[in-house]
Amino acid sequence: MPEDTLFAEVLDPANRADPYPIYARLREKPVSRQSDGSVVVSTHAAIRSLIFDPRLSSEDLPPSRRPRTGNPIKDWLLNPIKDRIVTAHRPLIFRDPPDHDTLRGVVMREFSVTRVQALRQRVERDVDALIEDCRGRDEICLVEDFSYPLPVAVICDMLGVPEKDEPQFQSWASQLATALEPDTRHDEASRHRTAAAFDAISGYMRALIREKRRRPTPDLLSALAAPPPNGKPAMGDFDLISTAILLLVAGHETTVNLITNGMLTLLRHPHEWDKLRADPERAPRVIEELLRYEPPVHFRTRKALGTIEIAGHTIPKGAPVILLFAAANRDPARFADPDRFDPDRDDVQHFGFGGGLHYCMGAPLARIETEIALVALSRRLVAPRLLSDPPPYRSGASLRGPEQLGIGIGGVV
Ligand code: HEM
Repeated sequence: MPEDTLFAEVLDPANRADPYPIYARLREKPVSRQSDGSVVVSTHAAIRSLIFDPRLSSEDLPPSRRPRTGNPIKDWLLNPIKDRIVTAHRPLIFRDPPDHDTLRGVVMREFSVTRVQALRQRVERDVDALIEDCRGRDEICLVEDFSYPLPVAVICDMLGVPEKDEPQFQSWASQLATALEPDTRHDEASRHRTAAAFDAISGYMRALIREKRRRPTPDLLSALAAPPPNGKPAMGDFDLISTAILLLVAGHETTVNLITNGMLTLLRHPHEWDKLRADPERAPRVIEELLRYEPPVHFRTRKALGTIEIAGHTIPKGAPVILLFAAANRDPARFADPDRFDPDRDDVQHFGFGGGLHYCMGAPLARIETEIALVALSRRLVAPRLLSDPPPYRSGASLRGPEQLGIGIGGVV
């Protein structure tokens, strides 16, 4: 028997601005079965005990027998083949071992600390230019003017996507990110738009990879595409395309929300804003606490490959399992006074970047970007104030963040 429908309340856009009271009710049962058969896991201890469990699979994607071309005969002929290829080569975030680990190993070799650190200057330059563009205005929208353009520029630079192509990546990335939301995955029209964005970006990436092989440049995509001196490439073309798309989407939509949530939280806590402004060395602490207190990724879904007993509950084989990271981050059994934003807390073992095999590969990059962004904003914006609180939110419950963040400013220094 299903126990409750609290998770439906989490998905309800009316609760987007403050889902935390619902999370508190969910935590009363660490594992709760929902009316649609899914199981929500919401306490820190329960998620920690499941995060490395090989019985939880990340390969739970619905088969995509969808019209793509508008021509039913062509679709009937093409889809089974195309779908098989796409399913076999889905991005590593949707794969289990051993494929997941092999692909992740190849990317991690190239996604080195040196490569990430080398982006520091580029990030500083972009941050300065975006703030400079706000000069002469008394109101800005942080999302549009700052948080959105920054990560797309950085990830495109890292991958080796030419600057002139960046704008179209923003719209592809936004559409593809909706595939992570449970409600939009079931919406036919949205799945069509996602399929179209996927086709467009795949075609673009295929051509770009060909170009990188012909004329390699010092970027991640050239490094991944380069044929090894001997032996066959570590990654085939389909995997290379899906990896490049994953890095783009994962590296973009999330960082936008961390910067925006960061600014919102700091402006709601003016003494913390002042402390950061006076002492930029506090930035790493502020960012770790933000990842706990207002994380950009609220939950991820797995599928139970077997029956799992946990905390006195049974997760049935085949059930979708929702790991509610954002609820675990506010678990009073783990964190003292969890609803208080306190960058000075010593223990901040959050699930903001997930955990286990799928722990975020871009964590160092996301930290650098957000650190540089928040420090520069705190130093250069004069007397910033929120124009509306709460701000309007984007529809996503999993990738959660404001759609706009209006800020009044007294100038730029
Ligand atoms: C604030 C920014 C970010 C947040 C909050 C974030 C959060 C997460 C989370 C929660 C996961 C775990 C997914 C799961 O368990 O299924 C994840 C995975 C991942 N992230 Fe991030 N991420 C951020 C930025 C980035 C950036 C900048 C990149 C790359 C440029 C990136 C690349 C990835 C990849 C490739 C994975 C999949 C790893 C795997 O499946 O092994 N992320 N991220």
